[in-house]
Amino acid sequence: MDNFILFLLSLPMAAPKGSHSLWMHATYIKGQTPFPEFSYVLLLDDVTVLYYNGETKTLIPRGNTTTEDDVFNSNVLLTISDYIQSSFMNKWAIATQNVNKTDGVLALQRLVVCELRDDGEAGQMITRDAASGSTTDELRYVDKNFTYQGHLNVSAQLLKIHLEFSMRRHENLYQPFCIKTLKGYLEKRRNQVNRKVKPRVRLIQKANSDSGGFRVSCLATGFYPRHINLTLFRDGQPVSDHEITGGDLLPNGDGTYQMRKSLEISADTHKYSCSATHLSLDNKLDITLEFEPGEPFKSVIPSVLALLLVFGTGAVIYKYRRRRAASSEGDYSSALSE
Ligand SMILES: *[C@@H]1O[C@H](CO)[C@@H](O)[C@H](O)[C@H]1NC(C)=O
Ligand SMILES: *[C@@H]1O[C@H](CO)[C@@H](O)[C@H](O)[C@H]1NC(C)=O
Ligand SMILES: *[C@@H]1O[C@H](CO)[C@@H](O)[C@H](O)[C@H]1NC(C)=O
Ligand SMILES: *[C@@H]1O[C@H](CO)[C@@H](O)[C@H](O)[C@H]1NC(C)=O
Repeated sequence: MDNFILFLLSLPMAAPKGSHSLWMHATYIKGQTPFPEFSYVLLLDDVTVLYYNGETKTLIPRGNTTTEDDVFNSNVLLTISDYIQSSFMNKWAIATQNVNKTDGVLALQRLVVCELRDDGEAGQMITRDAASGSTTDELRYVDKNFTYQGHLNVSAQLLKIHLEFSMRRHENLYQPFCIKTLKGYLEKRRNQVNRKVKPRVRLIQKANSDSGGFRVSCLATGFYPRHINLTLFRDGQPVSDHEITGGDLLPNGDGTYQMRKSLEISADTHKYSCSATHLSLDNKLDITLEFEPGEPFKSVIPSVLALLLVFGTGAVIYKYRRRRAASSEGDYSSALSE
């Protein structure tokens, strides 16, 4: 029970600019877990809009739900939910053939995504299955063209029957329903998924007691949408990727994102700076760190924001000075908890 992770499936694509997607993350799990045997969440882009509990067979709206009961026909979605649950049951039988059941909890997962292009047409649809976090098979439907990749432990004949069936359902039910639902949610949540929230960017220096050197981190947080380019510069030149650690996109609890990129340095005299480009910023946002030992730290954030407000973004350069190692810890953690 301790060692399983839900939603291990990696995102298959970065949706093209202007397009939107509806996602289903479904999980089928047996054993001692706090989860229903079958459940899923629906997301519009990266906003959770619905949760389904397969034990009680209930659809539970999430987020702003004032008037969303007309987005889709619940009876159709409940029927689709039953189809998915029974296909999981079949897959369970296959998946458990060669698995040592004493190894712990086995989870089957399915990721379904359909995409609406910015010209209003249906883009690709992907259905990807995984057992214990590893992809088992995937069906792609693009421009009326199916491609299937997989390594299921079944006979070719059984696979063919299963695939024919699944393709017909994608054509006639899953994709039309998915696109219709996606359009419905977009209508209701357009402001939520098209919002632009500026990153707060800061450059932090922290003593690294193990190496005797320092770690310079650039942190951008509180931004939406998720796409951001964060670049660390040394004396005006981008620092190469293999020197950088971090760079993972992490969700904040409030629907915004954060990203941090770090660099280990010795006490040197180079000048470091960090630059962010994001949809919310007309220009890039530059933050510079300078090493001048002994100077007290000045907070960078209020000034940057004030300048942004006064000048309506634009390139902002702010220099702040190295702080004594002892007091840098507090700033570092407060930046992270922002
Ligand atoms: C919820 O929806 C209403 C009506 O569509 C809208 O006025 C309101 O701003 C929304 N609230 C949030 C938190 O999105
Ligand atoms: C299953 O795993 C347990 C513990 O790892 C091991 O003792 C047992 O022999 C395994 N059984 C099979 C059929 O592999
Ligand atoms: C279907 O997709 C495959 C793989 O992308 C491609 O090789 C094939 O030509 C496509 N077929 C049609 C009819 O578009
Ligand atoms: C990030 O950089 C790439 C390559 O230069 C560019 O295509 C993309 O639009 C940039 N993204 C943002 C959010 O600025």
